[in-house]
Amino acid sequence: MKEILEELERRRDIARKGGGDTRIEAQHKRGKLTARERIDLILDEGSFEEFGMFVEHRSNDFGMEKSRIAGDGVVTGWGTVNGRTVFVFAKDFTVFGGSLSEAHAEKIIKVQDMALKNRAPIIGIYDAGGARIQEGVAALGGYAEVFQRNVLASGVIPQISVIMGPCAGGDVYSPAMTDFIFMVRDTSYMFVTGPDVVKTVTNETVTAEELGGASVHTTKSSIADGAYDNDVEALLQVRRLIDLLPQSNTSPVPEIECYQSVTDADASLDTLVPVNANKPYDIKELILKTADEGDFFEIQASFARNIVCGFGRIEGSTVGFVANQPMVLAGVLDSDASRKAARFVRFCDCFNIPIVTFVDVPGFLPGTAQEYGGLIKHGAKLLFAYAEATVPKLTVITRKAFGGAYDVMASKHLRGDLNYAWPTAQIAVMGAKGAVEIIFRKDISDPEKIAEHTRMYEERFLSPFVAAERGYVDEVVMPHSTRRRLARGLKMLRNKDLTNPWKKHDNIPL
Ligand code: HXC
Repeated sequence: MKEILEELERRRDIARKGGGDTRIEAQHKRGKLTARERIDLILDEGSFEEFGMFVEHRSNDFGMEKSRIAGDGVVTGWGTVNGRTVFVFAKDFTVFGGSLSEAHAEKIIKVQDMALKNRAPIIGIYDAGGARIQEGVAALGGYAEVFQRNVLASGVIPQISVIMGPCAGGDVYSPAMTDFIFMVRDTSYMFVTGPDVVKTVTNETVTAEELGGASVHTTKSSIADGAYDNDVEALLQVRRLIDLLPQSNTSPVPEIECYQSVTDADASLDTLVPVNANKPYDIKELILKTADEGDFFEIQASFARNIVCGFGRIEGSTVGFVANQPMVLAGVLDSDASRKAARFVRFCDCFNIPIVTFVDVPGFLPGTAQEYGGLIKHGAKLLFAYAEATVPKLTVITRKAFGGAYDVMASKHLRGDLNYAWPTAQIAVMGAKGAVEIIFRKDISDPEKIAEHTRMYEERFLSPFVAAERGYVDEVVMPHSTRRRLARGLKMLRNKDLTNPWKKHDNIPL
């Protein structure tokens, strides 16, 4: 009997070594952890239960029958993050470059199916070269099976991808269909085809970093939602995000003990908005002063910085914050900002996370670059996302809410539940200068008359009171009471029950 037990341990030891000591050393030399080390870091200590440790590929082509490695390049199973169940798979670059064979795909599919059936988040850790070239169509079929499950799970359980090495082909398309993608600076890359293929097809010479490094995907393409300096930091931040998310679309939003009073006034907010309406201020200050203990997990912090999106908690429960950022492009809505916020709003709505919107927006960005780039369709995405969302929507207009952007940013007309305005709010079709130049065009050459019209326009329209008179704003509130008002509002809205008409699915302008 002892020998039988020892045989299991012997086999386990071999499997845990993956591609062997030399390859593990090479992995470490590149500043990367191994698949198992990554899983140990992302899960609670000792909580990992592995599946399929002894799975091997079944290929006999190109001499593959001579190299079968237990586990076949992916480590799969489940464990807990701060006590809550998550399913996980981590590509093992030391085994055939983490490439996906038929058997490797079956291992991933098993945890995808289990995560969906048991309504728990799934985390994929990627460090892999795409389809196992030696397996041909069997590998392609395997990817499509994974993709199909990504789509079926979308909006049902949170799916998170962490890119921790060079990833190509299917190893970027599967992450692309998940909710969030995080990368590691300098060691992770994402591209459909690598630099060599690019050179052959388009004759462009690019490095892997230039083609698909973390800086490209967090600032230019917006493929990634965040980037971190090393594996450890990335994995710890993903744990932080998981803590904020519900287990599924039918699970409650996680709630933890709140140690910060929600009734204390924050007098500093009364002077946050500068007297001069054209001066910027940092909207993140408002977010940090509203969220419990100033804890804010920002999504896409380096992309479309004119809008800020991320998660925090109010009175212990997760909320999604969306806020125009006056520090960048005066907080204007452009195509990138609209796309970024629309996706975030839709994520929150899928998972029943209330949305708190802070509005200071001068409108949509004019110009040929924006119009040619499809601003109408991209702007419509945000409009669509807010309008279809049925989660509690709480809006605070701090300063400008002009034109179409007023409508879009969770206005009363888009079923905003609580719409507050600070006394500094200016709710109008447009700013005074533009408005006066249009409606008093005949007086344009008379500066005195224009000044008088401007003064009258500002007095009448650039305040929250015209909107408040109509009930478009529920209440004009003191800035210092914002956290209290939102906390009370969220409590009142806990049992909100709103359902959209039945449909197969909507047709959001993609
Ligand atoms: C089989 C692979 C492999 C693959 C890497 N390896 N990719 N084996 N199939 N797809 C093996 C290598 O042969 C090597 O084995 C080991 O993994 C490490 O790879 P290196 O090239 O030495 O590492 P590195 O220089 O770091 O380069 C990593 C890489 C590169 C950028 C990922 O290997 C690469 O470009 N691979 C091919 C990527 C690709 O084109 N994949 C197919 C995509 S199509 P040895 O034994 O020599 O150490 C696809 C279809 C899906 O995925 C459908 C999408 C819609």
